[in-house]
Amino acid sequence: MSGKYATETLQANEGGIARAAELLRDGGLVAVPTETVYGLAARADSDAAVARIYEAKGRPSFNPLIVHVASVEEARRIAEFSPEAEALAAAHWPGPLTLVLPRRRDASLASAVTAGLETVALRMPNHPIMQEILAKSGVPLAAPSANRSGFISPTSAAHVLASLEGRIDAVIDGGNCDAGLESTIVAVRATGEVEQLRPGPIAIASRAANRGIEAPGQLASHYAPGKPVRLEVIKAVEDEFYIGFGEVSGDCSLSSTGDLGEAASRLYACLHLAAASDRPRVAVAPIPDEGIGKAINDRLRRAATPPD
Ligand code: TXA
Ligand code: MG
Repeated sequence: MSGKYATETLQANEGGIARAAELLRDGGLVAVPTETVYGLAARADSDAAVARIYEAKGRPSFNPLIVHVASVEEARRIAEFSPEAEALAAAHWPGPLTLVLPRRRDASLASAVTAGLETVALRMPNHPIMQEILAKSGVPLAAPSANRSGFISPTSAAHVLASLEGRIDAVIDGGNCDAGLESTIVAVRATGEVEQLRPGPIAIASRAANRGIEAPGQLASHYAPGKPVRLEVIKAVEDEFYIGFGEVSGDCSLSSTGDLGEAASRLYACLHLAAASDRPRVAVAPIPDEGIGKAINDRLRRAATPPD
């Protein structure tokens, strides 16, 4: 493979985790499994390490990163926790919920992590491998999804290598991600108000965000397979790769039993297959817009929007 770095594939065992932690402490870039999608981790307190994340992903520097922590105590050293934020963390951490909170001025964070915002996005993941990596590296880890900016998110080590091999130091192979969709993001305002910035695996009662594009992952075009995508298709045409659901089996089924949780966990794998197929276009069967189906449809709408 071409690229600047010889990317190591590490096993999810003691040796692999120790190597990942060593690379991270030294300012390296390691793709790590989480319960949502694979993240591209670097130490959050190092300007040089965080700069490498943006470079490897080709990510615009105005798009801030999520900081992953080993504990609520660690999170409290980075951001101001209001009673509302404390309650959300107590209810959902560790887990697929990201809290956008006012950052503490004395937090030791590379400035690129927050892209100059007064707030910081924090998450305590519940994946055992990621938790061990956080514990062993001993520092909070900034980690966006481990894909080239704008493309499909990775839910396996193979997906990570397909877009980042040669651009990162290592990937830990932790198998397929359970949830398969990125964390729910909510901002907790000084007033205690909770606004959802991105739908995801955890449903939170909130006002919808109305402050424009505050989480740039919410840009209209994202998660894109690089070819036209048609949604809510009952009957695909011949040159389309058809992603099915329920009764519709298609070329790749999200869930033959019509299970939305299974569909969420398989969404990106099907989009990766669609991207790799020799068919020039993609069609997707209708997905019920309820529960996690809302987050699936959110990602599909962005995948179907052509880039500017
Ligand atoms: O499940 C996840 O959240 C995965 C795993 C690896 O943890 N990470 C992930 O990161 O999805 P990323 O970079 O692909 O998406 C993070 C989103 C972006 O849309 C970013 O704009 C938003 O979080 N974000 C980060 N910091 C923010 C802040 N201070 N205010 C508003 N949005 C923020
Ligand atoms: Mg992403």
